[in-house]
This record gives sequence, C-alpha cells and structure tokens, in this order.
Amino acid sequence: MYASEGVWRDVDAYFVATLVAEDEALVEARESGRLSTMPQAEVAPNQGKLLALLCGTAGARRVLEFGTLVGYSTVWLARAVGEGGRVTSLELEERNADIARRNLERAGVAGRVDVVVGPAAESAWRMVEDGVEPYDFVFIDADKPSNPEYLKASLALTRPGSVIVVDNVVRDGAVVDAGSSDERVQGVRAVLADIAGDARLEATALQTVGSKGWDGFTVVRRIR
Ligand code: DHB
Ligand code: MG
Repeated sequence: MYASEGVWRDVDAYFVATLVAEDEALVEARESGRLSTMPQAEVAPNQGKLLALLCGTAGARRVLEFGTLVGYSTVWLARAVGEGGRVTSLELEERNADIARRNLERAGVAGRVDVVVGPAAESAWRMVEDGVEPYDFVFIDADKPSNPEYLKASLALTRPGSVIVVDNVVRDGAVVDAGSSDERVQGVRAVLADIAGDARLEATALQTVGSKGWDGFTVVRRIR
C-alpha cells in the first residue's frame, strides 16, 4: 500500500484539526516562518505538540534549543515548561531572532525564553564555561553538519535523565546513503553513530510523513 504525499498532508491536517489546538500566537509564529532565512523549516504543528508532550512527561523545567528560527517550536517548548521554567534558544541569524522575539512576546512567553544570537556551538560552549545548571530537555534543530558538535555540547549541559531530540534525520531517505556528498546527510549519520556509540545514551529514531514531506527525528534519553 502506498499513499501519496497529498494524502499525508490531508492526514496531518486532520490530526492537527482534531488534536492540536494552535492559538493565534502559534498560527502567526508558524506563518512568520516565510519571513525567515529558511522558510518552511519550522516543525509541523503536531511535531511541536509532541515536543511539548515529551517535555511534560520528562518534567522538564529547563530546555535548550539549537536553532530558534522564528521561534515556533520555542513557543511550544516555553509553554511546556510552565511559568517557572526556562528556555534557552540558540540562533545564528539576527533577522530570525528578531522575528522570534516578537512571536514569543505575542505568545506571552518572552519572559521565560532567552534567544541567544550567534553560532550555536560557541553559545553552547560559553554556557558550559559559565557552569549553567543542567538542562532537562534539548532540541537539536539547527544546521545539520554541526549535529555532532551540538550533541557533544548537549552532553556537557545535561544530566542523567535528560532527553535530547534531534530533528530531520531522514530527509527523503537520504540518510541511508553512506557515501553521500551532502554534508547535512553526513552530519546526521555522524551524530547517529555518536549516539549509538555512547554508553550514556539510549535512543531510537522514527520516520514521519506529513505536512513536512518525508522526514523524521531521533529521541535520546541520557541514562548516566
Ligand atoms: C531544514 C532544516 C530543518 O530543521 C527542517 O526542519 C527542515 C529543513 C533544511 O536545512 O533545509
Ligand atoms: Mg528541523
């Protein structure tokens, strides 16, 4: 059995309409993605809600995000941590960060989110040097060639029990091409190998189809 991409989108639309209530602020944040340096790269509404649900089940109060873009996933994460929670979101592009800050303001969560502009790895290692408190949940969703570096920094910024989600690990199936000349594919394969080889980590990965085409994500639990 094979369903076409049009049907994947219809099913996502049905799930979102049935289960995923986006308020005005989320709709506007999602739609503002078209003004960013990477239109369409924000997570789907049902994936945004999954991130929030994972944060909730992990009891996360401190969340770290690599790749703010316009803050759509950031709104989901910030709402999930609740009033006493804190989200740090790292973004390379000032232009995206400006849009994100407006979206966070509109969503009523600007007070619990720090959007840090600059190369995400540099920002993360600075936090390690500063000795910040460990994060409970990390969402890695920035430039894919840097995935291994982002994982390394995440391990310096988490604790046993923390959860790490890595987005975009399928990319139309390209992930299985070990000889790919696409450095994004190699960044995904390298981070998956690093996760697999690290005794502190347990992980799985899932493929998704839907409003974002064919892609997927990895869920990692740090056990020690
Ligand atoms: C791209 C990056 C993302 O994080 C995403 O969700 C979709 C696309 C990209 O690099 O094109
Ligand atoms: Mg992504």
